[in-house]
Amino acid sequence: MGLNLCVFASGSGSNLKAIIKASLTGRINSRVSLVISNNSGAGALKTAAEYNIPYLHLSQKLFATQKEFTAEILRSLKKHKVNFILLAGYMKMLDPVIIKKFRNRIINIHPALLPKFGGKGMYGIHVHEAVVAANEQITGATIHFVNEVYDSGAVILQKQVRVKPADDAESLQKRVLRAEHKLYPEAIRLFEEKRVRVRKNKVFIK
Ligand code: GAR
Repeated sequence: MGLNLCVFASGSGSNLKAIIKASLTGRINSRVSLVISNNSGAGALKTAAEYNIPYLHLSQKLFATQKEFTAEILRSLKKHKVNFILLAGYMKMLDPVIIKKFRNRIINIHPALLPKFGGKGMYGIHVHEAVVAANEQITGATIHFVNEVYDSGAVILQKQVRVKPADDAESLQKRVLRAEHKLYPEAIRLFEEKRVRVRKNKVFIK
């Protein structure tokens, strides 16, 4: 069954683009119905416009209260009939009200093999800097459920990526991003095929 996806993104949006392409080429049956960014200059919003996908710049700063901000997000999700949320480089926490409403229907991609290199401050290039500094030989990407605690939801899929001796954070980021672009559509397919079960914060793939 195809899902109506909303992608939240703050940055360049290369994962968003990979998901849109997977949808257009039939690798997934779901479609991106809405893109939301907290950052008006995000490449992700330009990508959405390019592919004629509805998009919104919604930032807490534009609202008097967190409650109003959250209510506007929920209204937009309803309007676009969104039934599944993807975080793809979204650098903000979603309000617990949204997490509760979409329990086990919000997933995130992280550019390392969680629980390694996760938690506060571990996002984007900082993750790859930490991996290089720790002399890791293997890193990768993780798709996990989003819950109320940063990077702690159950892991759904991981893909390993080799760290080469000459890598710096930038070269590693590029290689990991290529893995991410394959991994996100794979994860979406698992949900389309209803193959993901969660019990006691553990994922079982049928
Ligand atoms: C991706 O590498 C994603 O894994 C990471 O931000 C990048 C966004 O790239 N997310 C995190 O670090 C979350 N903790 P993109 O905008 O090109 O998709």
